[in-house]
Amino acid sequence: MTVLVTGGAGYIGSHMTYGLVDRGEKVVVLDNLSTGVRSLISEQATFVAGDVSDQSLVRRLMREHDIDAVIHFAGSIVVPESVEQPLRYYANNTVASRALIESCVEEGVRNFVFSSTAAVYGIPDASMVTEQTPKEPINPYGRSKLMTEWMLQDAAKAHDFHYVALRYFNVAGADPKGRTGQSTPRATHLIKRACQAALGRVPALDIFGTDYPTPDGTGVRDYIHVSDLIAAHLLALDALRAGTKAEIFNCGYGRGLSVREIIKAVEKVTGHPLPVREGARRAGDPPMLVADSAKLKRTLCWTPKYDDINIIVSSAYAWEKRFNS
Ligand code: UD1
Repeated sequence: MTVLVTGGAGYIGSHMTYGLVDRGEKVVVLDNLSTGVRSLISEQATFVAGDVSDQSLVRRLMREHDIDAVIHFAGSIVVPESVEQPLRYYANNTVASRALIESCVEEGVRNFVFSSTAAVYGIPDASMVTEQTPKEPINPYGRSKLMTEWMLQDAAKAHDFHYVALRYFNVAGADPKGRTGQSTPRATHLIKRACQAALGRVPALDIFGTDYPTPDGTGVRDYIHVSDLIAAHLLALDALRAGTKAEIFNCGYGRGLSVREIIKAVEKVTGHPLPVREGARRAGDPPMLVADSAKLKRTLCWTPKYDDINIIVSSAYAWEKRFNS
């Protein structure tokens, strides 16, 4: 049994690969290195450069490596970029995922963990988002992921094919052992950008919008430590191997933090004031997104270990100091 990790040279995929090899799993990483970084892949994994949409390559890998599960991260993830280049997002996320799902069905690889997103909810009415909250994505990124969820649902009904989709809220932080972290070139994530500003690598942190209908006017998100997210994937993989057919889970801690609260946490961790610049809202950003992750806790017995913004920021900052991208 071997797990195929697509996008395993990326931020979350590289943590996943370590999470798998740490528990003795065999792993093949498939990544086209368009945004991924080769050196972040565990040396215990087999690396193959290529696209998930290359069905002859993917099907050969599935046969040669006795793949029993796919964990699918490969894709494009930047919301404003998706607004500017929607067709690229539908190609990289939706169309490529369709090809990968088809390869699984054709090769009898029945376990599939999908990297979905809270962006499928758009601007929810409820302050806490459950898996039942209406899915009304407001940007092409969210739509490209929701369409993939639909394909998974339909494929699981029609074929001997099982999946778990994990809807990530805001993933942050880095491997506590310091082996990998957020290294994507031109990263846009708030905590990464704040750490870069703290280190003087960008002149200031831009606050995108101070007029949101939130307590301090800045965007509110549910920041989850990447290692807790990886733990959820491992539980999802175990559940699939034990017979789970089709499940969707929110992944977050259930508490919202504003941009200003993140800035305070960064200042506390670094011991310095952070240079900031207040600016206009960014295209495609909802005001507030906080996860109700009761289903994940109840069904998969997920118990977060790093639910503390200071721990999240400290690990992100430690990585940023070492990795100068
Ligand atoms: C989005 C996606 C998420 C995806 C992530 C990766 C949604 C709901 N979520 O998260 O699935 O994984 O992008 O790109 O679309 N901000 C600033 N200054 C900055 C950067 C961000 O003020 O320099 C603010 C944003 O306006 C937002 C918050 O910080 O309110 C978080 O932004 P970011 O880290 O980019 O993630 P999201 O856009 O929430």
